[in-house]
Amino acid sequence: MANILVTGGAGNIGGSLVNRLVKNPDHFVVVSDNLLTGSREKLPDGSIPNWKFIKSDVNDYRDISAIMLSHNFDYVFHYGAVVGVKRTLENPKLVLDDIEGIKNVLDLSKNTGVKRVFFSSSSEVYGEPVEIPQYEDTTPLNSRLPYAIVKNVGEAFFKSYQQEYGLDYTIFRFFNTYGPRQSTDFVISRFIERAVTNNDITIYGDGSQTRTFCYIDDNLDTIERILNTGECKNDVINIGSDEEITILGLAERVIEIFKSNSQIVHLPPLPEGDMSRRKPDISKMLKILNRPLVSLDEGLRMTLQHRLF
Ligand SMILES: NC(=O)c1ccc[n+]([C@@H]2O[C@H](COP(=O)([O-])OP(=O)(O)OC[C@H]3O[C@@H](n4cnc5c(N)ncnc54)[C@H](O)[C@@H]3O)[C@@H](O)[C@H]2O)c1
Repeated sequence: MANILVTGGAGNIGGSLVNRLVKNPDHFVVVSDNLLTGSREKLPDGSIPNWKFIKSDVNDYRDISAIMLSHNFDYVFHYGAVVGVKRTLENPKLVLDDIEGIKNVLDLSKNTGVKRVFFSSSSEVYGEPVEIPQYEDTTPLNSRLPYAIVKNVGEAFFKSYQQEYGLDYTIFRFFNTYGPRQSTDFVISRFIERAVTNNDITIYGDGSQTRTFCYIDDNLDTIERILNTGECKNDVINIGSDEEITILGLAERVIEIFKSNSQIVHLPPLPEGDMSRRKPDISKMLKILNRPLVSLDEGLRMTLQHRLF
């Protein structure tokens, strides 16, 4: 039996992970989430016995220590964070407070015999790209905004706790990840929701900025394998897709796939926080995943079919 804590487990990626983890009867999963952007609907069905939800704030030591000191966790996935471009730009202090949560998770993990901590870092640590694709081990980190800085500092904390206390970690640098549990704060869910209701799809600037979009199953299959095999110990791994598309191209693709009558409307470009390009090198991930990625068209269809938004 493995006891597993997932912070941010009522969110998009966390909730998807929790639903995956509880399929294994040898797991007992505790979900910690303050429901800032998460919701109970993303959690597994109440009839499934091997999990529980505790509403709690990982940045508050009393809250999270009460949970971690009363369970012997084998693994901790630290996914709880303030997210969303607009929210993080408008609430920089709230974002910086997430450094407390990272320290809490690491201090409590090292003191309670956790075997490995997994951290959801972000492609944002690369900042405005200095090279494409972006490699885990060699691409310089160009983090400037609070959200990216917190992820960058977070990575440094995980590495330092390994060095000083022998606490093992894996750092996931998530690139845009989408799926049925993603809120409409994010581009794919928002475009799908607008397209299927035939409302205007709005784009910041001319839409020439490119992104890569990773379907949640590719993320989950890679991470489940890492958990089961112990690969990527004390290592950093890009988790994403290398299929690059412009935001305008994405809007057009969504309209075409869902046979929508939506019009594309351009808004002024965002003053900051909208990187021109992002594309990971995913050789490490593909070696672990050991199958081709889900295509964007297929992922868009599955997102609509199973959507919770
Ligand atoms: N989805 C992506 O494309 C993407 C890309 C890069 C990194 N990430 C990272 O992956 C993780 C999950 O993101 P997501 O996309 O699923 O977003 P999400 O908003 O769906 O999930 C984040 C969850 O954390 C919870 N949370 C926030 N602050 C908390 C706190 N102090 N204590 C407890 N819970 C808290 C929220 O309520 C939410 O359920 C985050 O750490 C995010 O930074 C996501």
